[in-house]
Amino acid sequence: MNELRVSSEKEKQDLEHEDLALELVKVSFSWNTGTKALDQCNLVIPRPGLWMIVGCNGSGKSTLFRLISGMIKPQKGEIQCSYKTALMFQNPDHQLLLPSCGSDLMLSAPQDQPREELRERINSALQQVGLAGMAPRPIHTLSGGQKQRLALASALVSNSNLLLLDEPTALLDPLSQKSILELVKSLSRRAKNPISALWITHLIQELAYCDGAAMMKNGRIGNWQPGHELMNNLK
Ligand SMILES: Nc1ncnc2c1ncn2[C@@H]1O[C@H](COP(=O)(O)OP(=O)(O)O)[C@@H](O)[C@H]1O
Ligand SMILES: [Mg+2]
Repeated sequence: MNELRVSSEKEKQDLEHEDLALELVKVSFSWNTGTKALDQCNLVIPRPGLWMIVGCNGSGKSTLFRLISGMIKPQKGEIQCSYKTALMFQNPDHQLLLPSCGSDLMLSAPQDQPREELRERINSALQQVGLAGMAPRPIHTLSGGQKQRLALASALVSNSNLLLLDEPTALLDPLSQKSILELVKSLSRRAKNPISALWITHLIQELAYCDGAAMMKNGRIGNWQPGHELMNNLK
């Protein structure tokens, strides 16, 4: 009986995820300078989770994110993305705009909601990222790690379900780095609406946290492999 219930619960989850997908098929993109940044690139996010991409400078990672988020269009190939995406950068100061945590999150929230619901939504997002009660806090009083948490809260408030993280821990100390990794991992495991995260890293020890890792090289992404396997290959 129990087993049956679990399996139907799983089926329900699968159904909910069924139409959530990111797929790139043979995507090519050249900048107008003539630089070919993506070259017949394929990529599939198989399910919610923490997916990491490793690659040298210039291998096309940031261009990939711009394509997935729709800021630029490929010259060749197909991109199917039914996720709502949110970008997160190395330096949170580049994306936090308003003076307090609450006012900044208000910017990301759907504007058609009653004020009271908005406030609840913002408080719930702050709580999920470990910043409960910090809506009135001035942003300049936050640490680097807290600012990245706030950027994550902003993605939650906007109902994004695919986070594109471009070396989000590169400027953080080891403790904050670990806590951001654990936070994103736990958001990708939460029971309701688990997120998918595509995380670019140069720090190979971060691969220990992922559900799958892939190398990007010359505008192409290799197959997903277990994080520890890629870690060993890179050592
Ligand atoms: N805005 C741009 N205009 C022209 N060329 C660019 C631009 N952004 C990136 N490139 C070039 O595209 C290639 C891939 O860059 P990028 O996607 O930033 O790689 P990565 O993030 O892996 O370092 C590089 O050769 C880079 O110089
Ligand atoms: Mg880059």
